[in-house]
Amino acid sequence: MTRFDLEKRFLHGGDYNPDQWLDYPEILEKDLLLMEKAKANTFSLGIFAWSTLEPEEGVFHFEWLDKIMDDIYAAGGNVILATPSGARPSWMSKKYPEVLRTNASREKMIHGGRHNHCFSSPVYREKVAIINKKLVERYGQHPALLMWHISNEYSGHCHCDYCQENFRNWLKEKYQTLGQLNHAWWGPFWSHTITDWAEIESPSPLGETMVHGLNLDWNRFVTDQTIDFFEHEIKDIRQLTPDIPVTTNFMADTYDLIPFQSLDYGKFAKHVDVVSWDCYPAWHNDWETTADLASKVAFINDQYRSFKQKPFLIMESTPSGLNWHDVNKAKRPGMHMLSSMQFIAHGSDSNLYFQWRKSRGSSEKFHGAVVDHDNDENNRVFQDVAQVGEALEKIKEIKGSYKQAKVAIIYDSDNNWALEDAQGFSQASKQYPQTLQKHYRYFWDHDIAVEVITKEHDLAKYDLVIAPMMYSLPEETMNKWQEYVANGGHLVSTYITGYVNENDLTYINGWPAQLQELFGIKVTETDTLYPSDENSVAYMEQKFIAKDYCSLFEVKEAEVLATYGSDFYKDQAAVTKNQVGKGTAYFIGARTQADFLDHFYEEIVQENNLKNNWVVQGNPAVSVQARDFENQSYYFVMNFSEEEKTIEVAEETVDLLTNQSVATNISLKPYEVKVLSPQK
Ligand code: GAL
Ligand code: ZN
Repeated sequence: MTRFDLEKRFLHGGDYNPDQWLDYPEILEKDLLLMEKAKANTFSLGIFAWSTLEPEEGVFHFEWLDKIMDDIYAAGGNVILATPSGARPSWMSKKYPEVLRTNASREKMIHGGRHNHCFSSPVYREKVAIINKKLVERYGQHPALLMWHISNEYSGHCHCDYCQENFRNWLKEKYQTLGQLNHAWWGPFWSHTITDWAEIESPSPLGETMVHGLNLDWNRFVTDQTIDFFEHEIKDIRQLTPDIPVTTNFMADTYDLIPFQSLDYGKFAKHVDVVSWDCYPAWHNDWETTADLASKVAFINDQYRSFKQKPFLIMESTPSGLNWHDVNKAKRPGMHMLSSMQFIAHGSDSNLYFQWRKSRGSSEKFHGAVVDHDNDENNRVFQDVAQVGEALEKIKEIKGSYKQAKVAIIYDSDNNWALEDAQGFSQASKQYPQTLQKHYRYFWDHDIAVEVITKEHDLAKYDLVIAPMMYSLPEETMNKWQEYVANGGHLVSTYITGYVNENDLTYINGWPAQLQELFGIKVTETDTLYPSDENSVAYMEQKFIAKDYCSLFEVKEAEVLATYGSDFYKDQAAVTKNQVGKGTAYFIGARTQADFLDHFYEEIVQENNLKNNWVVQGNPAVSVQARDFENQSYYFVMNFSEEEKTIEVAEETVDLLTNQSVATNISLKPYEVKVLSPQK
């Protein structure tokens, strides 16, 4: 049991940067008063404090941090203490230029920004090890210390000589011989056979970008190297504070709110104790409905929870607007409570903010924060935060509970990289992550819990597994799917599946025999359409639009569920279903729109009893999400619309937020959220 497991409250608070305010003792004092008023209990400290902690090489100043840690503890709060490697002091860049990154065009960066450091640099690693050790020695036993926040939003890559050397060594370990490497990279193509390890260079716009095996390995290397750096950072931390969990804050690819693209978080998650992430949706934007956006936020939360299949943390979010969106709109009344509760509903044990207090200078001075420049609690945003703090106290019994799901969607980073890189199909319409989110949407609309898993996760506990667009599909995964279906699982696959293996080499003899057997079809062609082109599929006596991709196949054993409406493949199979052992394998050959997916999944859900029976009559804009303990479930009912909505549920409940009983007919005002506990 760690201190975090024993913590009986949801974490509420966020990034606190007192190091920016050391010349203003009255501000620091005010912070303590305001924390209580905001019902904030947890602060992430020191994330970018290196230049304050070590203003000169080897000269350390901890007194300010001692005081803040003590003060927070005295006020009943927790600290998530950061290692400061996300940005380093300028003296270090000056004295040891090797710590700076070299970009893909082989240009050496100069000091500036953050995350501008080489993960391989021995000097950087040494400096990080020194400061981290000092921090763990000094604060490892501090009673306020709840968790370690390792660095900040790891990202990016470096192409310096050290990194090239590490890349080559990584490749040597993977392939052992150049023969094997050349085979995987399809060496003779454009005369690219490598004859000496020293010839290998990371992908670069000045050189190589067309060797797909190289690109894929580089992406994998970057993840492994980042993890290696993270492991380096936590060496002493693990040894000296084995009971304090470590995390590092993950991201999403924002604006679009799709999973983060450049690191394989599924792999990274195995190295952290608790997954945490930073979520910045553009609420109230002008290109999608609130429900559209909410379902994407839900998807990523489900994904990041599913990595470790246990509660995660929201490490950063904003109480109001941001500073880096194109338009930084304020959250409308009600949205802060709703969006905060949505995190909890999907399994977060926190709502933490960036940041506690708006800074006075530099680029983040207008980023939303709990404490505005007015330095006062009597404003709308602060009051919204305080209300969330109060709500989290009221529902604290839910902390630590999990979410059960019988449906899983597979998101695979390797596949995403390989597919993005593939030249063919249509660059603009591949949209792998977005496609997963579209499949997810049916389940979100119908309040059916989903886990978003990697291809490594065990499938046995799911009744339905959805794996769209698995362009890159290792044989091992095919075998796993085969076994899953044979044992009674239901699997959905789609167009652009099973083209290449784990090295991005196409399968010899076309569509793999295992897939032919599993789906009872043989895919022979994939037609890519122009954006203005359209086909249709006829399914259950209705016609649905198909766009972008239509795969053609020979039908072997499978039952044909839908056929194409036009073009040279008119009347040929478009969607199939194949009975294998005790289970079923479905194949959706065409990219359809939400209307088809609604009908398609509705059938599967009915047939296999996957419906959420607690919701008698739902509404697509009202999301119902449960969190469960062994003998008790809690229901979050959230209206993601600007209108009043009504739903009907199976039993009477008590709303933990108001302590009032709630009948089975529930009506919700715009943006209203209820947290319901069935009456015992
Ligand atoms: C995050 C970052 C924070 C802050 C925030 C602003 O990506 O970790 O330090 O910059 O964005 O939204
Ligand atoms: Zn480097």
